[in-house]
Amino acid sequence: MSSNVRPETMERITTEALANAFIDEQIAEIKAQVGDKKVLLALSGGVDSSVVAALLIKAIGQNLVCVHVNHGLLRKGEPEQVIEVFKNQMNANLIYVDATDRFLDKLAGVSDPEKKRKIIGGEFIDVFAEEAAKLEGIEFLAQGTIYPDILESDGVKAHHNVGGLPEELNFELVEPVKLLYKDEVRVVGKVLGLPDNMVYRQPFPGPGLGVRCVGAITRDRLEALREADAIVREEIEKLPETPWQYFCAIPDIQSTGIKYVNGKGERYMGWAVVIRAVNTTDAVKVTVPEIPFATLCTMRDKIVQIPGVNRVLWDISEKPVATIEWE
Ligand code: XMP
Repeated sequence: MSSNVRPETMERITTEALANAFIDEQIAEIKAQVGDKKVLLALSGGVDSSVVAALLIKAIGQNLVCVHVNHGLLRKGEPEQVIEVFKNQMNANLIYVDATDRFLDKLAGVSDPEKKRKIIGGEFIDVFAEEAAKLEGIEFLAQGTIYPDILESDGVKAHHNVGGLPEELNFELVEPVKLLYKDEVRVVGKVLGLPDNMVYRQPFPGPGLGVRCVGAITRDRLEALREADAIVREEIEKLPETPWQYFCAIPDIQSTGIKYVNGKGERYMGWAVVIRAVNTTDAVKVTVPEIPFATLCTMRDKIVQIPGVNRVLWDISEKPVATIEWE
């Protein structure tokens, strides 16, 4: 499938039968393209790269080499899930790289959001290229490009994503889902047996928690954010309808809290966690759905248990004027 134009006759993949037909066709195409050569894939655990990994594992098994780079800015449980699903359940040839220290050291003291994005994007490419250089016999690079990436190459995603492929990784591309829309990728992922929380997961920015730990990232504030984010996801996912995107941000400010020690109130400075939940169809115009007050209170009660946090806010700003992310 080398054309970048979706044929008008191509049926929208909405059913298991259509997904199976697509999977069979892609397996045959991948086999024909790569033969017995090795293919490299940066596997983030997002739906697009996960579906590509699952397809390639079916087509070429161990000749797919997946590299999962943990930049330390992933959500709670994400690297563990990538290892569980791909290495343990699908027997993937998976290289896990914990590059947390490398990323956080480079980001230390950097508060400008675009600089943070550049550092994260640049460092990601460096780590990935270093891993690729250690491998022998790679001739192809798989990517989770989807149709909107081709159509909107100047859209929101392109605006945010820094860099791209390392120049030195001059491999032939394998892009089996490049003519699919997101909903079709999800149907294919479901049929390939990926877990629901991977297939239906909300959009998550490449720089991850890095752009939600507002200002210069510190490890303690980042850990507080990661815990708060896990609480918010867990509680919001109990609702009958989940918003399009929901997460926390943690501004680089402190406010006064009070705790009682032996009946005596002591004031101290702590962080404020911001809950953000939004609805949109295109990430350009965004509304804020109602969250039941009981859910907000449950989240608050859990979030204030996190060391260093003494305040919880709910961001009800729409886009415009606010962006979805705080940075
Ligand atoms: P904003 O904050 O611009 O976000 O309203 C719109 C959508 O883009 C996501 N986003 C990013 N995605 N890299 C990404 O891959 C980024 O640097 C980035 N920044 C924002 C954001 O989560 C929202 O879905």
